[in-house]
Amino acid sequence: MNELNNLINSLIEDNTLIRMIFSGSRRKSLAYQKVVLRPVAIHGLAAYQLEYHSEKKVLHKNIEKEDCYAMILALLTNDFKQANIFSTKADYQILVSKIDQPKLIKKPPSKQLESLSHNQIKQYLIPDGTPCDFLIRLGVMGQEGQVLKKYYAKFRQINKFLEIVEDSLKHFPVDKNLLIIDFGCGKAYLTFALYYYLKLLKKRQVEIVGLDLKEDVIDFCNRVALDLGYDSLSFKVGDIEGYEADGKADMVVTLHACDTATDFALIKAVSWGAAVILSVPCCQHELFEQLSNKINDPMLKHGLLKDRFTAILTDTLRGLKLEENGYEVSMVEFTSLEHTAKNIMIKALKIKQPSASAKEAYESLVDFWHVVPTIGQLK
Ligand SMILES: C[S@@+](CC[C@H](N)C(=O)[O-])C[C@H]1O[C@@H](n2cnc3c(N)ncnc32)[C@H](O)[C@@H]1O
Repeated sequence: MNELNNLINSLIEDNTLIRMIFSGSRRKSLAYQKVVLRPVAIHGLAAYQLEYHSEKKVLHKNIEKEDCYAMILALLTNDFKQANIFSTKADYQILVSKIDQPKLIKKPPSKQLESLSHNQIKQYLIPDGTPCDFLIRLGVMGQEGQVLKKYYAKFRQINKFLEIVEDSLKHFPVDKNLLIIDFGCGKAYLTFALYYYLKLLKKRQVEIVGLDLKEDVIDFCNRVALDLGYDSLSFKVGDIEGYEADGKADMVVTLHACDTATDFALIKAVSWGAAVILSVPCCQHELFEQLSNKINDPMLKHGLLKDRFTAILTDTLRGLKLEENGYEVSMVEFTSLEHTAKNIMIKALKIKQPSASAKEAYESLVDFWHVVPTIGQLK
């Protein structure tokens, strides 16, 4: 028991705890199956956050550092028989069938401490625990505003997307009426999020259009927009390639539009001179069969490597074409890799001069790899 006490004390005192996961309920009536404890910083002060996982929801509670030791002991004594600890120094598995006879298994550390620079609950632009009409309607939140467990990854993705949008806002005058198009909007979680955040929270004048090939999905989205009174949000059925907007879009969003649909979205965006383009490509298959380069055969003979490389090359070429057309391009992590491998966002801002060197680099690359990508239609 002393060993366990010392370990808990040192994890807290030395700030070495990364995460502690409690599992193995001591009784059936326990309202949650798992609790995750992690350090956070609240208004610059070290604190801890507890995540209580039950079947349908995840609830958060912040506690002060001083209360952390007692909380860990209470969880181990009353609620759970097992805990997995990840610290900067080691990983531990603790088995506590009987609290006075804990068993500790120590392993080398497998995780690194992330930045604690902000409160993990408050950082969300749409917070968990506060009812949000579109998230409730789309089934992400319950009526009281709690995010349902199976939608937590989606919820994080929505918030991450909004952080990137927020950062892009500085490229528009505050009083500008923005036309935003979301190509391949699907069920439109992110399109609704855009509207909610920009129009309802930030009070910006926006007109947002979601486009998708699927008629039933578009009908559903229009019905939801109508029910929620989202009056300048509309959805249309159509193919990106042939889409004609009523005006020039200021921002073009395209998230997980498959394969060359992303290219057509980028081509449209550039043709309108959109100031901001946010694109998360997926299924970059186009170049897979085209790639040929003798010296790289050792890589290309492995389908998995070739597939990954195809995606990277495709996005590199897209980035270069955007730079050639006067965009500053960055490739940013959209969501953490643990949620989806489709996690690279091409963020392009029209704040630069057209780049002749990007044009040259593009041409060298397509020659080297013997490929003719759709993005090449962008002149
Ligand atoms: C994987 S879903 C992504 C949905 C949404 N953007 C998201 O990230 O949650 C891709 C969507 O793109 C749509 N799509 C694919 N190609 C398209 C095209 N050429 N024109 C319009 N929509 C397209 C599909 O119908 C599908 O709904």
